[in-house]
Amino acid sequence: MIGKKKAKILVFDSGFGGLSVLLALFRTIPAADYIYLADDARFPYGELDEQELTQGLERLLKEACRTHQPDLIVIACNSASTIALPTLRSALDLPVVGIVPGIKPAALASQSGHISVLATPGTMKRSLTHELVREFAGDCQVNLVACPRLAEMAERFVLEGAWDSTELGREVGAAFVEDGGIKTDVVVLGCTHYPLIQSALDRVTPWPVLWIDPAPAVARRVMLLLGQEWQDCVANRQAAHGDLSASFGGSIRFLSTGEGASRLTTAWARLRPDFVNH
Ligand code: DGL
Repeated sequence: MIGKKKAKILVFDSGFGGLSVLLALFRTIPAADYIYLADDARFPYGELDEQELTQGLERLLKEACRTHQPDLIVIACNSASTIALPTLRSALDLPVVGIVPGIKPAALASQSGHISVLATPGTMKRSLTHELVREFAGDCQVNLVACPRLAEMAERFVLEGAWDSTELGREVGAAFVEDGGIKTDVVVLGCTHYPLIQSALDRVTPWPVLWIDPAPAVARRVMLLLGQEWQDCVANRQAAHGDLSASFGGSIRFLSTGEGASRLTTAWARLRPDFVNH
């Protein structure tokens, strides 16, 4: 347990995607000091060689820990978590929380027994993704749909509000299967970028589905790791103020390995215009 009143949390992704996790964290634990680091110099991660990805992550995050001394790291990237979590946990001397496709909650929620998973080509190749399907969705028809361009589309959507319904439909269309009148009813957003473009996805789906975004579960896990003292403090504030993030805040710093720090600040301002200067 860390048990501090004000934790320092490093949130990491290849690009903007981790902002969907930062939103969930910020709603749950707004008074923490956040450092958001994007490895935009190597974005997108979806097609990177696994060994190169893991070694690069270890180097980068060791350095980030030395410089920023966080209490906890959130790897807000499925493409990275599904391959590098064990390596990162043994290389870094602090709690490391990852995110993996929400196949278990999807299988539990599905009424039709037909679920689809949208993720990067990298995440689709990982043995962990296939283990999750075997372990938690054995009684479902699981349709894995690799999306080579959806993360980039999501970044553009956040920054410019722009999206092309034909391209988007082409990217995710295979997730919607109708088989003898039985339809896919649950779709896993298996990349942290995808919740950021969910409102556009809603407009191109042939029928409504339940989208599964594991970010709130990740935020709850982080809160557990931060310890009871912190949870009590948050619960008291929540009782007093309702929406926590509207009533008190910590700080957020955006860093990138490329030239994207100001794009991240702009993206965050679009997602949380009320919390730009905290
Ligand atoms: N946001 C990342 C994920 O959750 C990946 C995007 C990418 O770099 O391809 O998988």
